[in-house]
Amino acid sequence: MKPNNKIFITRNWHVEAVNYLCDNKYEVITWQNTTAPTESEIINILKDCVAIISEFDDEISNNIINSSPNLKVISNRAVGYENIDLKTSKARNISIGNTPGILVETCADFTMGLLLNIARNITYSNRDVLKGKWQSFNQLPYLGFDIHNKSLGIIGLGQIGTAFAKRAINGFNMETYYWSRNRKLNIENEIGINWIEDINDLVSNCEYISIHCALTPETHKIIGKEQFALMKNVKLINTSRGPTLDQDSLIDAIDSGNIYAAALDVTDPEPPDYKSEIINHPKILITPHLGSGSTETFKKMAMMAAENIVNALEGKDMVSQVKL
Ligand code: DGY
Repeated sequence: MKPNNKIFITRNWHVEAVNYLCDNKYEVITWQNTTAPTESEIINILKDCVAIISEFDDEISNNIINSSPNLKVISNRAVGYENIDLKTSKARNISIGNTPGILVETCADFTMGLLLNIARNITYSNRDVLKGKWQSFNQLPYLGFDIHNKSLGIIGLGQIGTAFAKRAINGFNMETYYWSRNRKLNIENEIGINWIEDINDLVSNCEYISIHCALTPETHKIIGKEQFALMKNVKLINTSRGPTLDQDSLIDAIDSGNIYAAALDVTDPEPPDYKSEIINHPKILITPHLGSGSTETFKKMAMMAAENIVNALEGKDMVSQVKL
């Protein structure tokens, strides 16, 4: 065993990653409860550890970092790292790792699944089947909309937005547009997507809209009342982060016909209150933050998070390090 070698993993899901860390002579402490550890539970374990593998919803606060004198690496098993106090990490010279790239195609597949689902009323009709309401052939209550040849607006053309756009263009011949802070001419030329400079123009003209931007102060509620009012019968998908969307205005937007249906794989908060209107609304499909959740990608992300730690502790480059 290496001295000062303890690593905390905030879930007990990642057997391969644990084995890899143990093979590299680290001592691994995994959280065994089914619910995630609280701040004080993390502090209690992390005070003796050099590194942590955290999930995107573990708030790695200033308090946690300052209560962990031995901490050298925070390795988030996620692309996003808005759960980590970066300022304090920088001041403490702590390396931060994340796991981009691996989940791109997996998340794009899932987004397409959500789009197909709400456009063609798959879950919506199934809710009725489960209630015994399928008594005879009658498609009328469930007539959805075609997907092929329709217009799609993508908000945020990062890796996942691009992978999703490719599916829409190549698989469904969708006329695809994007809004992004920076224009991406190389991607436009490569895949045949068109840039729209004003997000309001994008939402006014597309039948399908999918949010893929990172959550920053600039993208907080980037789709809100103003944008809802411009939409017409839109099928809306969010697989980015819950707060990119003004969730409180969504039901009104559905009732007024601006939104036809919405699929949210991310919400604010997560999870939403089980009894809330948003969960029970028949035109809102909520999934439990599953975008990256395929068996293959789940494992690969955990392995990358573990490799980030071993590399950083051994003075090598992380597979992916967040620049502070
Ligand atoms: C990410 O990687 O940021 C996902 O949202 C969590 O799997």
